[in-house]
Amino acid sequence: MKSKSGKSLKIFITGINGFIGSHLTEAIFTQTDWRVSGFDMRSDNLDELLRSDNFVSFKQGDIFDKEYRAYIKKQIKWCDVALPLAGIAKPAYYLKKPLWTFELDFEQNLKIVRACVDLGKRLIFPSTSEVYGMNDGGELLEDTSPLTVGPVSKTRWIYSCSKQMMDRIIFAYGQERDLRFSIFRPFNWTGPRLDTFEDAKEGTARVVTQMIYDILNRGGVTLVGGGSHRRSFTWIGDATDALLRVIANDSGRADGEIFNIGNPANNCSIKELAETLIDEMKRIPAFSERASRAVLKDMSAGDFYGSAYDDMRDRVPSVSKIEHTLGWSPSTPTKDILRMTAEYYAHSGVL
Ligand code: UGA
Repeated sequence: MKSKSGKSLKIFITGINGFIGSHLTEAIFTQTDWRVSGFDMRSDNLDELLRSDNFVSFKQGDIFDKEYRAYIKKQIKWCDVALPLAGIAKPAYYLKKPLWTFELDFEQNLKIVRACVDLGKRLIFPSTSEVYGMNDGGELLEDTSPLTVGPVSKTRWIYSCSKQMMDRIIFAYGQERDLRFSIFRPFNWTGPRLDTFEDAKEGTARVVTQMIYDILNRGGVTLVGGGSHRRSFTWIGDATDALLRVIANDSGRADGEIFNIGNPANNCSIKELAETLIDEMKRIPAFSERASRAVLKDMSAGDFYGSAYDDMRDRVPSVSKIEHTLGWSPSTPTKDILRMTAEYYAHSGVL
């Protein structure tokens, strides 16, 4: 893949060790000649990647710690494109640590946005499907759908609001200060390393990792509110293909645009998700016995998450814009996403 100019791009990624960062870096190194520098508080997902000649710099540290400001600024000066991926993206944390969610996802990242403005660098910002909030069903469109969230006492929405505010600030910097930007909105990206089994043990993992753990260790899964809520799950490999196209920015077509990156064909209820996951895990020898015994248990949202939780009934992305603008469409069905994710945990020897 070539950049707009045909030159090898220089890319700076914070949160590079995370789910999106580590998969994106792997895709960059296998499919492009781009060079990468990164910052993260951990490095356990980067072992192989750090050996690449195109991984030019990595610093491990806490983004809140002032001593790393100079390093981050230097990397932004060096790069062509900055991706501030460091952030909290787990609903359980929005409830328990709403201020931390705001301070990291908004305050820390705003510094990077402003550095991109001051240094004239291109910015690619991870927004979220959560900005669409409590929509009334139907496909969600980047440039026309309303963004409606619940009351302040439902702290689940602090993540959505933080991301929405940043989307608006970036858009305004584009208008008033010529910031070159693209914004992407992930819709339930799923795959290996989404969350860890340590997260799942404390009940803070997102649904697929939580359910794999619960099937293996707790005799079955919990369906919050009966599992009637719906999501559209997207394979991380499809998602990183989309991101590569956004970064490559062929003919400048991604400039100033917001893109949903999701898979509308995979829309399903959480109950359907659990049933498909159990079926797929029955086919994996190491998991088959426990999957065969797994039961589905209903629990109210209040009992599972506490009173600050709120949820959206459904969430279906429109992907027409990215299809027409960048020629991307998703291809991996939910069944395959669940099989490949469960196989990853089987190969990691979690039992
Ligand atoms: C996620 C997170 O906010 C972010 O990772 C992200 O920005 C965004 O949505 C996205 O990935 O598009 P959500 O879809 O609610 O939010 O995340 P999960 O924790 O995976 O929950 C999905 C659904 O499963 C919810 O309705 C939840 O109540 C339900 N659930 C979760 C269960 O029924 N059982 C469980 O054990 C866990």
